[in-house]
Amino acid sequence: MTILVTGGTGYIGSHTVVQLLEAGHEVLVLDNLCNSKAQVIDRITKIAGKAPGFIEGDVRDRALLKQLFAKHPIETVIHFAGLKSVAECGQKPLLYYDNNVSGSIVLFEEMKNAGVKSIVFSSSATVYGEPVFLPYTEAHPLKPINVYGHSKLMVEQVLQDLALSDRAWKVALLRYFNPVGAHHSGLIGEDPAGIPNNLMPFVAQVAVGKRAKLSVFGDDYDTKDGTGVRDYIHVDDLASGHLAALQYLQKNQGVLTVNLGTGQGTSVFELIHAFEKAANKKIPYEVVARRAGDLPEYYADAVYSKTALDWQAQHGIDRMCVDTWRWQSQNPNGFGQ
Ligand code: NAD
Ligand code: UD1
Repeated sequence: MTILVTGGTGYIGSHTVVQLLEAGHEVLVLDNLCNSKAQVIDRITKIAGKAPGFIEGDVRDRALLKQLFAKHPIETVIHFAGLKSVAECGQKPLLYYDNNVSGSIVLFEEMKNAGVKSIVFSSSATVYGEPVFLPYTEAHPLKPINVYGHSKLMVEQVLQDLALSDRAWKVALLRYFNPVGAHHSGLIGEDPAGIPNNLMPFVAQVAVGKRAKLSVFGDDYDTKDGTGVRDYIHVDDLASGHLAALQYLQKNQGVLTVNLGTGQGTSVFELIHAFEKAANKKIPYEVVARRAGDLPEYYADAVYSKTALDWQAQHGIDRMCVDTWRWQSQNPNGFGQ
C-alpha cells in the first residue's frame, strides 16, 4: 500500500515510517522541516534497508498536495504534521490554528478531491483537559486547556463531521499519551530544538552533560511521591499502534477514537531513577516551583486499544530510558552534528 506520511521526518513520524517500510509499504514523506532535519531520511533508510520518498513541503500548499495525489497511488494518509509546543502556542495562536487546523483542512480537501478517504490522525491526551476521573477513558469529557489542545480537538471534530457527511471515510483518531524513547539502533530519536520542554529529553541532556541539572517542577502534588505522574509510552510502541490502526481501517468505516498509552503512571522521581540505572550515572536535580498549567497526574485507560486494535504497549519505563540513553549518548547533538 502507498501511504502519505505528513510530518514523517519528525520524532513520532520517523519511527512510524521505519515500521511501515519494514512491513513492506511504499511510503511518501511530506515535511516542511520546520521542526526536523532532512538527515532523518538517511537514518530511516539505514535502519529499514529501503528509502521512503521525500518531499520537502507544507501541508498548507494546496497545489503541491494536488500534484502529490495525482502522481502517486496514495491509498491512505498518516497525518503527523503539526506544531506541538504548549509553551509557544498561547503566544502564537494564529500560527497554531493555521498550521494545525487550516493545514489539516487543506489536506482533507485534497484527499477528498483525489478520492482518498482513509486517514490516521495524531491527536493527544491533551484533548481531555483536567481529569474528571482517572484513568482517562475515550469517553472522558473533552475540555482542552490550551491553544494546542483546542487545535487537536477541532481537527477531531472536522474529521467526525466529514465521516458523518460521507460514510466512505475511514478515520482513526489516536490520542497519544507521553511519547518517549528511541529506536533501539540509536540512529533516530527525539531531537528537540533549543531547551527541551519535556521531561525525558531534558533528563537525557543532563545525563550527556549538555545541561547542568534538571528542575523538578514541584514535589508537593497529591501523588505517590509528590511529583507529577504521566503515562510514558515508548515511541516504537506508539508507531506500532499506527500500523494496527491501518489494519483496522482496512476493515472498518467511520471513526475510531482510541487512546495510545500504557495505562501505567510514572512519577518524575521514578523516571529519574530509571534513567540513572540506564545511564549508570547520577542525574543532578533541584526541586523548584510547579510549572503553570501542569496537571498533577494523568494516565490512559488502555483497555479499548487492546479490544479495538488488538494492540498494547510492550515496553516499560526501564526500556524507554535505555533506548533514550543509547540515542542521546550516540548523538549528543541530535541530528545536528
Ligand atoms: P515533531 O515536531 O517531531 O514532528 C512534526 C513534524 O511535522 C516535524 O517534522 C515538522 O517539521 C512537521 N511539520 C509541522 N508543520 C508542518 C506543515 N505545515 N507542513 C509540513 N510539515 C510540517 O513532533 P512529534 O512529537 O513527532 O509529533 C507528531 C504529531 O503528534 C504532532 O501532530 C503532535 O501534535 C502529535 N502529538 C505529539 C505528542 C508528543 O508529545 N510528542 C503528544 C501527542 C500528540
Ligand atoms: C507536556 C504538555 C502537554 C503535551 C505533552 C506531550 C505542558 C504544560 N504540557 O505535558 O500538553 O501533550 O507534554 O508529551 O507543557 N517536568 C519536570 N521538569 C522538567 C520537565 C517536566 O519536573 O524540566 C515534569 C512536569 O511537571 C510533569 C512531568 O515532568 O509532571 C512530565 O512533563 P512533560 O514531559 O513536559 O509532559 P506533560 O507535562 O505531560
